[in-house]
Amino acid sequence: MTPPTYSVDIEKLVYHGWGMGTIDGIKVFVPQTVPGDRVLVRIKKKEKRFWHGVKLALESPSPFREPAACQHADDCGGCQLQGVQYETQIQFKASMIADAAFQHHLESAIPLIRPVLACDSPYFYRNKMEFAFGSENGEVILGLKRRGQFDQVVPITQCLLQDQESNAIIAFAQAFFRAAKASTWDYREHVGFLRHLMLRQSKRKAAWMVNLVVSEDNPELISQFSTALMAQFPSVASVFKSIQSAVGDTAFTTNIHHVAGDDHIIESIGSYQFKISPLSFFQTNSLQARILYDEVAKVAQKIAPKLAFDLYCGTGTIGIYMSEHCGTVIGVEENPSAIADATQNAALNSVTNIQFICDRVKNVLKSHTWTPELIVIDPPRSGMVPKAIRRILDCNAPHIVYVSCNPVTLFRDLKEFETHGYRIHYIQPVDMFPNTFHIESVVYLSKP
Ligand SMILES: C[S@@+](CC[C@H](N)C(=O)[O-])C[C@H]1O[C@@H](n2cnc3c(N)ncnc32)[C@H](O)[C@@H]1O
Repeated sequence: MTPPTYSVDIEKLVYHGWGMGTIDGIKVFVPQTVPGDRVLVRIKKKEKRFWHGVKLALESPSPFREPAACQHADDCGGCQLQGVQYETQIQFKASMIADAAFQHHLESAIPLIRPVLACDSPYFYRNKMEFAFGSENGEVILGLKRRGQFDQVVPITQCLLQDQESNAIIAFAQAFFRAAKASTWDYREHVGFLRHLMLRQSKRKAAWMVNLVVSEDNPELISQFSTALMAQFPSVASVFKSIQSAVGDTAFTTNIHHVAGDDHIIESIGSYQFKISPLSFFQTNSLQARILYDEVAKVAQKIAPKLAFDLYCGTGTIGIYMSEHCGTVIGVEENPSAIADATQNAALNSVTNIQFICDRVKNVLKSHTWTPELIVIDPPRSGMVPKAIRRILDCNAPHIVYVSCNPVTLFRDLKEFETHGYRIHYIQPVDMFPNTFHIESVVYLSKP
């Protein structure tokens, strides 16, 4: 029997970049749609409170759509909001944040959401991207995953998110490994040599770090690739290889080896410089990171804390950035590579009032005698585990700044802080990720 189809008006954008409409009062999430679209939908899965739909046809396009600037927009899974005017993307993201507040019963916070600080350059802003190898007609291709398909790669000739030169580097790597007749990873069979190519750029210095991710080592071929790449692109300052034999589709592995050039790149944010190693987290939009960090530094300047925590500190960026307004800063981070960078970053910037601890936040806060006046929290997308929240609450700090790239986990965690006596002063969204559904927020909370 042919499954039924429905004509659905998309009302809003929700997390994951899905459009949401309703069928007979039930919410239905439909990828590849935006508010204002009317689409023909088939239901793929029914959950208790909502359904998942598949777009079969665009019956009437949203008035907010415009021709996508990117030629790969229809196939590539990278940008969900390509083809929507940038000003409208900002409005969609603002309402996504308000929705998250509503869902976590923090309606009182909705008026405290400030207008989004938009990005001056919605294209070419990313400093890091991971491209995937695949195969087409037996030839090596290099690109990004096809929308909704874990096992298919769209060959990319012109990505508009990273600096233009990245497109030339991708084309070069694809041609090199085609000529070498190298095999590519089969995402179902879990065999094949080439897996990912990670490109990271220092925007300030226009220097690239390239990390080739393969399933097993081939020192001779990788060394030939690195030599040819650096000869062709003088801006490639650093080459690494990662040996990733795990079946899961992640490029991240600690089995990483320096191949040629520098073992790091240096990026600037404001007047500070930061050393970045290949395994360390770094904000992916360097220009907008300054706007984000200024928001945190503003609070630190106002409070002038004797002691501040920079929790989930990565390479120490926020702590170093706000250090001039603080007596002492303690940064906490679980990744040893990031902590090594953080320590060197303090020295690089002649910042002497900061120290770093390499461990999980919940462990560091288990037993201590510190009394911070300001705690800055910048956890990963999943937010904080309940134990970490409890231990932050135990610190009884009068001021908290919560930096988050996920409104859903942000409001879940804010609810806990509010329940335990903190007042939200404002939520400042900062758009670090134009053309995608992602949005960063800085929240200032205090308690009497
Ligand atoms: C969103 S990043 C923020 C990094 C930094 N604040 C910045 O702006 O570059 C989150 C960081 O938290 C670290 N992390 C994740 N879970 C952690 C935990 N339980 N304890 C300490 N650090 C953690 C990650 O390694 C990552 O560097």
